[in-house]
Amino acid sequence: MNFSLPEGWTGRTLAGLRTRLLNWFDRERRDLPWRADRDPYRIWVSEVMLQQTTVAAVVPYFTRFVTAFPTVAALAAADEQQVLRLWEGLGYYRRARHLHAAAKTLVADHAGALPDDAGVWAGLPGVGRYILGAVLSQAFDRKLPIVEANSLRVLARLFGYQGDPREGVGKEWVWGAAAAVLPATRVGDFNQALMELGALVCAPSSPKCTECPLAANCVANRAGVQEQIPPKKKPKAITEVGEVGVVIRAEGNVLLCRRPGNAARWQNMWEVPHAARGGGEDVSAAAVRVAKELTGLDVAVDAELATIRHGVTRYAITLVCVDATLVGGEFASTFYAEGRWVAPPALGDFPVSSPQRKLMTDLINPTRQPRLF
Ligand code: ADE
Ligand code: SF4
Repeated sequence: MNFSLPEGWTGRTLAGLRTRLLNWFDRERRDLPWRADRDPYRIWVSEVMLQQTTVAAVVPYFTRFVTAFPTVAALAAADEQQVLRLWEGLGYYRRARHLHAAAKTLVADHAGALPDDAGVWAGLPGVGRYILGAVLSQAFDRKLPIVEANSLRVLARLFGYQGDPREGVGKEWVWGAAAAVLPATRVGDFNQALMELGALVCAPSSPKCTECPLAANCVANRAGVQEQIPPKKKPKAITEVGEVGVVIRAEGNVLLCRRPGNAARWQNMWEVPHAARGGGEDVSAAAVRVAKELTGLDVAVDAELATIRHGVTRYAITLVCVDATLVGGEFASTFYAEGRWVAPPALGDFPVSSPQRKLMTDLINPTRQPRLF
């Protein structure tokens, strides 16, 4: 660990800072559904959801999820497709699969208990040092640090850290800082207070330092360099990709395909077959080719249905979806795990990616006249 206290800081400096931050949290904390009690299961679910997603986006998902699966036993007994359906739209679906697998382990090996035991938690799928610290500090007041985007910003500014706390030695520095500031009790509240301060006061741009309980200590504030800390991430180069998606119809049904469990993303989620379009390849020809390559089926393309724009990592994807009719062949795929003919009203039952959900909504509720070629 390469963290050390700034010059002139003593135990009293830290004690004062802890008290002021906790008092601020007691006054200003948002009333969030996972803050109502100290149930380790609810804390765990909330922290897994919050790991890559904002509080505002998580709240409705959290409420639906814990209503459907109120206990770890209920989650362990659930069907993975139902878990994915309730996670749909939150993204990073591997989190949901890990959570589900971990719930099964806790039920199988620990009688469904969520123990005050870091050794048990550390062995569960999807549990890294963030989830470990978040759950054990909040549920059991264990003195364990957490670092996520908001607290990282607060700590880097508070201590005036010049490097990038997101990588290399900076990462170890910020975990060291997060450990050094912890109080002996109310650890969970203190961790949440750091995150809350980052969300409500110490915003990425124009932090409200005049309202901040840490302002008197804050190195960045005193030097007037808040906005330069942490250093801005370099924007990633975006590549445009054109894709075609094929809605293959037969006898009133639509072909849905399940992605394999080892796919790069959207594992075990459903979709209409889609793939990149070749440079200069027209939409209709691409649709016939993609249907054949991914499903073994021969289709006749009828009309363009929808164009959906979405982003995946560093790709900006334009997905043109067409209606097509099955004219021959049998479903056989070297990629998809499974294909099913589904009546449009049932398309709402299958977990799909966000861009595919837009298409499903159109298929369930056709509002526009298809555009003929
Ligand atoms: N982000 C991650 N966990 C959080 C929590 N418990 N409260 C507020 N924001 C968070
Ligand atoms: Fe952030 Fe300003 Fe508070 Fe420092 S004083 S922690 S920069 S809000």
